[in-house]
Amino acid sequence: MRRNWSRAGWNFVGVMALASFAMTQGASPATAGTVLVGDPVAGKAAWTACQACHELDSNKTGPKHRGLVGRKAGAAPGFKYSVALAEAGIIWTPENLDTWLQDPGTMVMGTKMFYSVSDPKQRADIIAYLATEK
Ligand code: HEC
Repeated sequence: MRRNWSRAGWNFVGVMALASFAMTQGASPATAGTVLVGDPVAGKAAWTACQACHELDSNKTGPKHRGLVGRKAGAAPGFKYSVALAEAGIIWTPENLDTWLQDPGTMVMGTKMFYSVSDPKQRADIIAYLATEK
């Protein structure tokens, strides 16, 4: 969405606007802010794909994942984030994670993460699993 409005912060505002629109309208399909109920067991298996770059308790190519749900973006100690993500001001709610995993570079232009999960159920499963790793 709106690739030319290059400020990550602006994109985030756009995402939030969509999310609140979805809530007030009770709208569902394929809008940001819509998250399916995930299965943490399936999510744990699916999360192995993330382990190419992420671990729970240590930073690798990507920041560590423990405690991710509810954490502020760019907050894993010792990880060198892109400026874009460090300044994005996002809280990793399930809704924001769902948007992120659809296409990180659309949500936060300039991020260093280039990996997405196209299947909505798989995204929900991964988010449900990560919520258990507090
Ligand atoms: C090819 C490497 C790679 C893969 C695979 C990958 N990521 Fe990432 N991820 C990164 C990098 C690099 C960053 C840091 C981005 C930045 O600083 O802009 C990141 C950042 C993140 C963040 C932001 C964390 C924070 O502390 O703000 C989340 C959330 C995330 N990844 C989730 C996932 C999930 C879930 C998966 C699996 C579905 C995944 N990533 C797969 C490389 C990867």
